Amino acid sequence: MNIILLGPPGAGKGTQASRLERDHGMVQLSTGDMLRAAVKAGTPVGLEAKAVMDSGGLVSDAIVSGIIGERLDELAADTGVIFDGYPRTAAQAEALDTLLAERNRELHYVIELVVDEDALVERITGRFTCGNCGAGYHDVFKPTAVSGVCDVCGATDFKRRPDDNADTVRTRMGEYRAKTAPILPIYDARGLVTRIDGMADIAHVTAAIEDVLRR
Ligand code: AP5
Ligand code: MG
Repeated sequence: MNIILLGPPGAGKGTQASRLERDHGMVQLSTGDMLRAAVKAGTPVGLEAKAVMDSGGLVSDAIVSGIIGERLDELAADTGVIFDGYPRTAAQAEALDTLLAERNRELHYVIELVVDEDALVERITGRFTCGNCGAGYHDVFKPTAVSGVCDVCGATDFKRRPDDNADTVRTRMGEYRAKTAPILPIYDARGLVTRIDGMADIAHVTAAIEDVLRR
């Protein structure tokens, strides 16, 4: 099964993709995570992407489609994929069609997380992750059980993303509205899109996604 999770910054794509990985043995392909790893490793892609990401703009279509193709090639043919944050432009949607067709993969669902933009700034500015295992948290909506200790691995160092500030979030939302939202009609025309209320609490959103996957 291959799924696209679509939604603006902070909609909950990463949160829900991790749960699908955990519960269904699928693999999350997050271009944001891959680009952050490239920045950290100081690769040529990372060097090119860093300033764009820090400003909230979009990295080039060729770079992101290139890394998605590479990652797909590392997976067994029957491993299901959750595309998180990709595609984000019409050109990426077209590239994904080609990447999937070349690998005899089909797209089964496009799930749009529908959210209230004003609430997203609060979600994003409260987000942090474990510096060791990457588990995701939120100051208010998903705190660690014991303050300062990761629930999953027990580590005590946490990270916040450099682009998680109110100004950059507004730019990222503008990019979503201008370049990503317009690709939904492409998938609507194919009857692939289901819209889910992304403002519900995390477990309810997961349950709604599960309902879609059972159809
Ligand atoms: P990317 O990493 O994809 O960031 P994004 O799209 O802005 O989305 P986020 O990761 O911020 O949000 P999310 O939807 O994953 O929310 P999360 O689950 O963490 O991209 C970063 C940058 O990389 C881009 O700006 C761009 O520069 C570049 N890039 C990446 N892909 C690209 C591409 N394809 N093309 C070009 N450039 C690309 O949730 C957020 C917080 O809210 C968490 O703390 C979570 O705990 C909490 N939360 C989640 N769900 C709920 C809920 N239901 N209720 C309450 N709290 C919740
Ligand atoms: Mg994310």
